[in-house]
Amino acid sequence: MQNPEVLDTPATRLTGMELADGWFVEELLACGRASSDSSGGTYSVSYRVRKGNSVAFLKALDLDSVIKDEGDDDFIGSINRATQAFGDEKTLNELCAKSRMRQVVTILGHGDVKVDKKPEDHMPRVAYLILELADGGDVRNHVARISNDDYAKKFSYLKDVVLGIGQLHSEGISHQDLKPSNVMVFFLAGAKIGDLGRAAVQGYGKSAFEQCIVAGDFSYAPPEQLYGHIPTEWIDRRQRADIYQLGSLVAFLLFGVTVNNIIKELLPPVVGPKHWFPEEGGESSYNQALPYLESAFFEGLQKYKTALPTWAAEKVVSLITQCSHPDYSKRGAKQILGKGDQLGLGLNRFVSALENLRTEAKKQAILQAKRQEKV
Ligand SMILES: Nc1ncnc2c1ncn2[C@@H]1O[C@H](COP(=O)(O)OP(=O)(O)O)[C@@H](O)[C@H]1O
Ligand SMILES: [Mg+2]
Repeated sequence: MQNPEVLDTPATRLTGMELADGWFVEELLACGRASSDSSGGTYSVSYRVRKGNSVAFLKALDLDSVIKDEGDDDFIGSINRATQAFGDEKTLNELCAKSRMRQVVTILGHGDVKVDKKPEDHMPRVAYLILELADGGDVRNHVARISNDDYAKKFSYLKDVVLGIGQLHSEGISHQDLKPSNVMVFFLAGAKIGDLGRAAVQGYGKSAFEQCIVAGDFSYAPPEQLYGHIPTEWIDRRQRADIYQLGSLVAFLLFGVTVNNIIKELLPPVVGPKHWFPEEGGESSYNQALPYLESAFFEGLQKYKTALPTWAAEKVVSLITQCSHPDYSKRGAKQILGKGDQLGLGLNRFVSALENLRTEAKKQAILQAKRQEKV
């Protein structure tokens, strides 16, 4: 990720303000373009806000940074996308809250606020969303931890993510940008999916990023998107892209690398997508590259498997294989594959697999503690 330049824009000057709905802006948490490698990018500034004893997370749209972004050739398009995406995100968050999706971050409010105009400002009015605050931050904090207790937590968070994907899919929403920075951790409630800024809605077709072949972050994009191949069916194009990213999330939490990293390491550059190999890649179609993608994927997984404890290795690799198969038609729980798409993706099978892994990790942690007592 590039290091974003922190500009002095209206959205960065909210600290100390009292908002119309009674929230007080306490502290700036982060600022910048979170997904710099994705088409369009997202400019947001975040704060901790308080109302009485409640604290929450505020996400402000940094429109001035969008306007000032000279790297974007499509000036009008980028402003349109940013404002529309922000509006869509609000609408989707409200829909998820109304459907009481427990594994999706809940929206608590939204609005806009006027700030004192400085001469160089373009838009001295800042739109914001207020979301429940994840007291454990995002799941990136957990990647490097590898005790059995940490494994138990990781499997539990991953299970929550699968539940969250199921909740979204059941309302026709596909997230399209699942990655560690978009999974929030709550000490009491476990993990929840956040950042609906790239989500696509079945039958809507007008999401801000609908026309982008790579819908979310390139690092987590499924290979068919990187090759510009667009599956016609919704389940293939959107839901199977979500579970590709789920598999990548599993890989990242357990191996510290994305599935794309695993494949890229072993892929002959000539058959790779241009995004990975700007010099040699870009000559093959998705279908031509598929056999090479598959062998790199399977070989790579065998290599990374050795980093895991033996009780987990086989099951984790099986999970990643079912989620992130380079051939999108082969993504889904193995028990239902080939039985027709009316059965969906079999997400409940992944929930049980992850719950079993979590229980096993707990058991291993207890056994290990007992062994240490004896020494
Ligand atoms: N509800 C929340 N509670 C705590 N931290 C959050 C919350 N939502 C987002 N964040 C943090 O802010 C970062 C950016 O928020 P996100 O909604 O992903 O915006 P962007 O569209 O800029 O990627 C996240 O990666 C996470 O670290
Ligand atoms: Mg994000």
